Amino acid sequence: MITVKSIKKEYSKWDWQAGKHVPFTEEMTMFTLTTPGSTYAIAALESGYLCHVWYGRRTDDEDLSYLLRLGENPYTPKVNQRDMGTFMDTTPFEYPVFGTGDYRESAVRICDKNGGTSVDLRYKGYDITDEKPALEQKLEDCTVTLPSTFADKGKSQTLRIYLADAHTGVEAELRYTVFEGSDAIARSAVITNRGDADVDILRAMSAAMDFDSAEYDWHTFNGSWARERILERSPLHHGKQSVDSIKGESSHQSNPFVMLTSHNADERTGEAYGFLLVYSGNFTATAEVTQHKRTRFVMGINDMDFSWRLAPGAAFAVPEALMVYSDRGIGQMSRTFHDVIREHIIRGEYKDKPRPVLINNWEATYFNFDTEKLVSIAEQASKLGIEMLVMDDGWFGHRSSDNSSLGDWYVNEDKIKGGLKALVERVNALGMKFGIWFEPEMISPDSDLYRAHPDWAIQTPGMPLTQSREQYVLDYSRKEVRDCIYSQMRAILDNANIEYIKWDMNRQLTEVCSSKLPADRQRELWHRYVLGVYDLQDRLTRDYPHILLENCSGGGARFDAGMLYYSPQIWCSDDTDAIERLKIQAGTSMCYPASAMGAHVSDCPNHTVGRTTPFATRGDVALVGTFGYELDVTRIPEEDRNAIPAQIEKFKKFNPIVRTGDLYRLWDIFADNTFDAWMFVSKDKGEAIFTAVQVLGRPNCHSRLVRLDGLDPAARYTNDLNSEVHTGAALMNCGFIVDLQGDFRSQTVHFVKAE
Ligand code: GLA
Repeated sequence: MITVKSIKKEYSKWDWQAGKHVPFTEEMTMFTLTTPGSTYAIAALESGYLCHVWYGRRTDDEDLSYLLRLGENPYTPKVNQRDMGTFMDTTPFEYPVFGTGDYRESAVRICDKNGGTSVDLRYKGYDITDEKPALEQKLEDCTVTLPSTFADKGKSQTLRIYLADAHTGVEAELRYTVFEGSDAIARSAVITNRGDADVDILRAMSAAMDFDSAEYDWHTFNGSWARERILERSPLHHGKQSVDSIKGESSHQSNPFVMLTSHNADERTGEAYGFLLVYSGNFTATAEVTQHKRTRFVMGINDMDFSWRLAPGAAFAVPEALMVYSDRGIGQMSRTFHDVIREHIIRGEYKDKPRPVLINNWEATYFNFDTEKLVSIAEQASKLGIEMLVMDDGWFGHRSSDNSSLGDWYVNEDKIKGGLKALVERVNALGMKFGIWFEPEMISPDSDLYRAHPDWAIQTPGMPLTQSREQYVLDYSRKEVRDCIYSQMRAILDNANIEYIKWDMNRQLTEVCSSKLPADRQRELWHRYVLGVYDLQDRLTRDYPHILLENCSGGGARFDAGMLYYSPQIWCSDDTDAIERLKIQAGTSMCYPASAMGAHVSDCPNHTVGRTTPFATRGDVALVGTFGYELDVTRIPEEDRNAIPAQIEKFKKFNPIVRTGDLYRLWDIFADNTFDAWMFVSKDKGEAIFTAVQVLGRPNCHSRLVRLDGLDPAARYTNDLNSEVHTGAALMNCGFIVDLQGDFRSQTVHFVKAE
């Protein structure tokens, strides 16, 4: 709910020159966003400054304006213009500007026609709508809709606050959306040049937030290839702490999701603020502890190497950020994100639908396959209940290793003998769907495409191009480049019954410069590149609504909410080892729902870490993701192969709870990596699945008592392990006994409410 109230108050301020208190009246417009568990308040002061008043636990008080008096220099420009500098650098601003005395992290920095970089945004007005506006970026040759939350008419409310800078004519429209029944708030902005001269946006953040203290822990999700989104937590300290990406994508190394929590916050208690950027390119998230031990947080497109020219009349769409506050710990914050992503970001046919159990040939064959090999895998897989064969990298051009053919999206008939249509028909005849891999943003130096269009690779003239995996990145800011790739993809998709696409992206951007942009606009390329990717994924998902799209980037380097707008699932990591996956999936689950996590059972010893784990454990860990197989089913041990039908049955039985239910993490794998446990509870609390994984065995008298969560305390639950019946209260307060023998063992237990 959004309310707007005019407030008029009498104050007095000590005037040291006059030696007495001077009375004054302050008027403001107070905007209050109320969600079931949180309140967000903004005040537009008489002077036009837009101040941040409060974000936190719900407080149904319409006048929180007294909180603005917290600063040592209460806002009194009316009676004290001479101290404006102090006011600017201490006041909590809602969308802080650079250049007029606020030296903390700013939300916006704009270069005017004289080269000055100061703006002064003041309040002009507001409106409220119950239709969620789309975020659109107009380009020279097309309009790209940025990924953002959506909602049915009447199911959300959006407040738009308009600010304007008299000096440049720049206008900022700040958008805030609340959703029915959700504790998430979406923020974005549109910056329009209403002046008569070009300006350059040098920085435009999606969210800025001033906290009245610095007593928070800062949580980030860091990693590397095959070890993505590992949680790191530390108390805030003076100065700036930040995470970012300048690689052109979200990256393996960091993720556009961060949390600020109270020091005592854990899964079940304490305060947690989560900030998620709905964007897939360079980003930054910074928490700055300021002089008075308060905190300013900003998040948005990384301003490193960024600028955007705004001609008179043009507008720039600032990507959306999602914020969630929870006073019931980190677990509750995660569940709110899971719901808002499942309901308001993920779209398309597979939004609420079970996904087919797939088998992917990457770890089975790498580049070494042909039609017969794939058909032999499919024959075996279909008998076991696997529903889709995915043909991974290596089917196109003359690709037989990772050193050629990206950009040549025609079938290699030396490998796929008789063509793709014939292969797909054979797979379909086995009762299986067929999926295919593309890496549409890339170009190999050894490709027909590169020989014809060397300038299509992103490059800086006169410099050697840095190769990575022996490939370059296509200039996706150019429509003709995207069109060419898309027409090749369409020829493949129209030629055979393809029901799934894995869209990969296996290197980051270097020597960033486009032959199509003038020298003084090259800093736009990073963002234009991302818009180009969005444009193509948008066209693909519109033209082929029945195809299930899975994004991927060298594993999980593009696991972000931007990509989830196009694909309901993303390959979580190239690391398929069940034990490594515990941390990777736990870190990912802090914000992203299990229904989006690509997780497969692979062969052992694991190809990435060399570890051997039981087949059952691999299954239990993968079944809390999208589930599939990544192995040569014709060559794995017979015992494992024979276990597949029951494993699939188990997945199908539990998948509805995993896909639609609530996740409760029951163990902190980041603090104790010898054990892990979690559960998914159906929304009606009628059933739950509980999974425990014992990483390292312990003496057999050391069973563990794990406290369950999320059950109905008054209800009685029976379990399929020992058929005992206990109340939810006992299982949650006292615990459930886990007695596992040996290393890498797991257990999945089904709890059902007893009648
Ligand atoms: C990336 C993906 C893998 C596989 C290979 C193919 O690394 O993450 O799953 O598709 O590319 O080259």
